[in-house]
Amino acid sequence: MFDKFKSNLNPFPEVDFTQGKSIAHSKSTTSRIMEVLDANGHGNVHGGVILRMADEAAAIVAMKHAQRPVVTARIDRFDFLAPAFIGNVVSINCNLNYVGRSSLEVAVEVSAEDLFTGEIRMIAVSQITFVALNEEGKPTPVPPLIPANAEEQIIIDKAITRRNKLKQILGNDGQ
Ligand SMILES: CC(C)(COP(=O)(O)OP(=O)(O)OC[C@H]1O[C@@H](n2cnc3c(N)ncnc32)[C@H](O)[C@@H]1OP(=O)(O)O)[C@@H](O)C(=O)NCCC(=O)NCCS
Repeated sequence: MFDKFKSNLNPFPEVDFTQGKSIAHSKSTTSRIMEVLDANGHGNVHGGVILRMADEAAAIVAMKHAQRPVVTARIDRFDFLAPAFIGNVVSINCNLNYVGRSSLEVAVEVSAEDLFTGEIRMIAVSQITFVALNEEGKPTPVPPLIPANAEEQIIIDKAITRRNKLKQILGNDGQ
């Protein structure tokens, strides 16, 4: 099964890595209604369900930009701000924040909507870093992130400031 999947990808399509892409190019929202199987012991949505949805949705954004497979390298922090309930629609809003040589940081905002009242609550935020891989499974360069407007420039500048602060705290391990 995996051999067939791999042979579909081999060789990867040619990509002009000098051509930058905007944040808007890969930005996306993924939604799903929460069902009984998504519940934890309290009857709310299990945190692991939200984490998995966030990781998958953010990976789609990273892969769309990179045009290469990616692996999750880091989940900086994942703040659960409020619970989501069974029957809510959970939406994962993702956009690229920062792109390095082979790494891509995706900002994730998770909301829960009550379809009957229309209430939308922010339930979690995170930044997830992916690394793009080549045919040998090694880190490979990706196209640069080029801001399309002033708003995108602000997002990138904020991410660079936050990453530099993290580096100061973590030293070389801050990547
Ligand atoms: C992520 C991984 C590919 C990095 O490999 P590596 O040989 O250490 O990579 P390098 O040191 O050459 O660094 C490559 C890039 O990854 C970044 N990186 C590596 N580890 C990182 C981490 N823990 N957090 C953030 N970025 C990281 C580096 O900063 C570098 O970025 P840049 O190219 O934009 O400058 C490797 O550690 C790995 O395979 N980890 C397991 C991934 C996995 O199984 N995830 C779960 C399932 S998807």
